[in-house]
Parts: sequence; C-alpha cells; structure tokens
Amino acid sequence: MVRLQKFLASCGVASRRGAEDIIKQGRVWVNGEKVTQMGVTVDEDYDEVKVDGEVVRTENKKMYIMLNKPVGFVTTVSDDKGRPTVLDLVSDISMRIYPVGRLDYDTEGLLLLTNDGDLTYKLTHPKSEIPKTYVAEVTGNINMETLEKLRRGVVIDGVKTSPATVEVVGATRLGTKLEITIHEGRNRQVRKMFEECGCIVKHLERIREAGLNLGHLPRGKWRKLSESEVNMLKNIGKVNNKPRYNKYKNRGGKKYE
Ligand code: URA
Repeated sequence: MVRLQKFLASCGVASRRGAEDIIKQGRVWVNGEKVTQMGVTVDEDYDEVKVDGEVVRTENKKMYIMLNKPVGFVTTVSDDKGRPTVLDLVSDISMRIYPVGRLDYDTEGLLLLTNDGDLTYKLTHPKSEIPKTYVAEVTGNINMETLEKLRRGVVIDGVKTSPATVEVVGATRLGTKLEITIHEGRNRQVRKMFEECGCIVKHLERIREAGLNLGHLPRGKWRKLSESEVNMLKNIGKVNNKPRYNKYKNRGGKKYE
C-alpha cells in the first residue's frame, strides 16, 4: 500500500506537493469515491484511481530532461496572463513532464523537467540544500564589503540567506559579472540579494544545478539527461548509495568507523 499523493507523483500526475493540491481540489477518485483528505493509501495493483475522470496508472517510464530556458517564458504549466510557458519549448515530448523548481520569467538557463515526482520532491525540498550557480551581470558598486556581505548572507523578506559562494568573473558593458552559488530556492533570491546590497541585476542565467552543467546547450533547446546524470541525481543525499545516517546517534557519542 502506498500513500495516494505518492502514488499520483509516481504516475507523473504532478509533484508530491502538487498531488496534494489536486486531492484537496476534489479531483481524485479512488474506487468510485471522491477523496479530498490526506491519509488515504492505495494498492497500486488493485485500486482504481482517477484524476479528472481519467484512470491513472504507474508509469514505469520516467523522463528526465534539461532545458536551456530563454527569457520570456514562465516556469509553470499554464499562465493566466497567456504568456508562453516552458512546456511550449518541449511540446515535442508526448509524456507529461513538469519543471523542477522555478526560474523567473526574466531569468534564463538550466531548468530540469521530469515526470519523476519523487526526484522533484527531493531536488526542491529546502532540506536538500541543492547548489544552484548563476552568472549575474549587475550594476552598482561591487567591492570587497559587498562580496563578503553576499557570502555571509543578507536579510531578504525578513530572513537571512544561507552562506553563498560569490566571485567576480569579469566586467561587461552592463556592469560587473559575478558567479554566485546558493543552496536555497527562495523567490527572486539572487535579484533580492543584490538589491539588498544596492545593486541591480541586469541579466541572470543559471549555469549549474545539483552537479549538472548547462554546457553548450543552445538557448530554447532541451536534451535528455544521460543515465549517469540521472543516477547522480538519484544518489544525492545518500552516502555510498545508502541512506544518510546520523553518525553520532545511538552510539554513546562515538563515531561510526
Ligand atoms: N534567483 C532569482 O532572482 N531569479 C531566478 O530565477 C533564480 C534565482
């Protein structure tokens, strides 16, 4: 037996959190009965689960892709303002896939999409602290003090950002070019961090995420992740392919050898 939202995520209906929303919206039926509360479990082999009237089944085939998102696309499945979405750029894929996390409308670069709800959950969960690297071109005074402030963390929306890696990598006609790596995914985080230091981000591109590089993937194009890239993502958070354990737990304070 498996929890209903986990089952829906494994079928590629949505991420686990998205599946919870779909359940709350009263769009899910199990064996002819509407389910709107969490806590229901299903047997994948025997129970009939419908979403919006359509039977869903475990989809064994998973798809993992990297897209080089251009500016001018929203990272949602649909947009109430009618703007183009990242799914318009992968319309040649018949499988239903979803963005892993978000990039702003005006940010470009590496965006992962998949129908693997479990992986999406892991990669977007704040506890995972997945590293994300951006190249930012900014105007304003970038001095040692600004860099130290960004590295230590700045208060945005009332909460201090966690330590970041920040390096100046060049100068352009727009201003200073920096590489910044953060381990959180807060709304417009990089832009707000620079704003807090009196600088304006003029151009922002994500070049790395979770150990994957954007490389030379052309803007607006996508590629499938290789098997080793997928395995690498699946193994994040595990030590020697085993679940991470607390080294000091139940050992009278002694470390495991
Ligand atoms: N930080 C931002 O400000 N925007 C993004 O799209 C991603 C990170």
